[in-house]
Amino acid sequence: MDIKAIRNDFKILGKEVIYLDSAATSLTPDCVVAAVTMYYSEYNANIERGVYSFSQEASRKYEEAHAKVAAFFNVDEKEIIFTKNCTYGINLIAHSLKLEKGDTIVTTLLEHHSNYLPWLRLGNKYGVEVKRIKPTIDGFFNMKDFEAAIDSHTKIVAVTHVSNCLGTIVPVQEIIALAHRKHALVLIDGAQSAPHFSINLKDLGCDFFSCSGHKMLGPTGTGILYIKEALHESTEPFEIGGGMIDEVDVEHYTLAQGWEKFEAGTPNIAGGVGLGAAVQYLKKIGMKNIEDYERKLTRKMIEGMKTIKNLVILGPQDPEKRTGVVPFKIPNMTPHEIAFTLDEIAHIAIRSGFHCCHPLLKSILNEPDGTARASLYFYNTEEEVDIFLDALKEIL
Ligand code: ALA
Repeated sequence: MDIKAIRNDFKILGKEVIYLDSAATSLTPDCVVAAVTMYYSEYNANIERGVYSFSQEASRKYEEAHAKVAAFFNVDEKEIIFTKNCTYGINLIAHSLKLEKGDTIVTTLLEHHSNYLPWLRLGNKYGVEVKRIKPTIDGFFNMKDFEAAIDSHTKIVAVTHVSNCLGTIVPVQEIIALAHRKHALVLIDGAQSAPHFSINLKDLGCDFFSCSGHKMLGPTGTGILYIKEALHESTEPFEIGGGMIDEVDVEHYTLAQGWEKFEAGTPNIAGGVGLGAAVQYLKKIGMKNIEDYERKLTRKMIEGMKTIKNLVILGPQDPEKRTGVVPFKIPNMTPHEIAFTLDEIAHIAIRSGFHCCHPLLKSILNEPDGTARASLYFYNTEEEVDIFLDALKEIL
């Protein structure tokens, strides 16, 4: 990978910043900014509603974006719904589940609030049990806990692919196989996996997969929800209204098929087109190249941090078992103080606090102040990691 050329594709990297917060949101390459701008400056019109050429072009570009994202995940474009973020996609599925007394939901204490609160609320609403599998402090699971929790009463298993707090990669294939043997549905939160390694949803075999567009170079306000085609009929749209119907009369309506069924109202057209440009760019770089390069950077970062006395790294120590999300602590400093100081002394941007993972931080990690968290993406460089390590040494 030619990192210098890649960095030239991101105008924002010309600024004085070492951006180590891509787990929160990624930077946006110029081609995505151009795709968004072009919609407004060249063919701004609503989609699937007008016969004039601007509207036809907008519709075609928006449909092409679905096709690009579907190809990126190796599924049919009917199965790819554009949402406003990963949270929305998970809520859509939770909203659509019909539960009865005695049903159960299985999730974990590793989850981001987005893949925890919708299930907690559903459990309270229907009076059904929400089973929470506990990870170790490194974010690993004992598969026996899933085996014990998932049974014929389990309606859905909702689990993250990669922890946004610890970086741990979860062996979701095993969980999917186990859940399907018991006829439970499976939702994977792919917010922290989809940007970083190649995902073939057909091979993975989950029923639902939700991820953020803005963490994989797309514009903010974009997300992706995969719903297996066989489940389209039984999945109810979250919202209902314009643009997603087949026929409506005074008393009745029938809904459209495919992704249109789940995208009510005027969508984020520019965002969707930008998201299409983002996955096209990722494809050009190559997801395997991205994965290998990030692993090399992560190893360098972790090995370097290990040599710094009194610095505590959380999550797996083995870079093969994690992505480039690296939480850490420094004695006698709060996570916000660490983040503030890194910005002040070296223009380094990291996230600090609870990372929307209160259950994990409070009940498993026992970190009442949260953590500092550096997170890498393929536009980061070895030199940036060196500057980060030097800044940590200086702070200590
Ligand atoms: N979910 C994002 C994060 O972990 C915002 O930082």
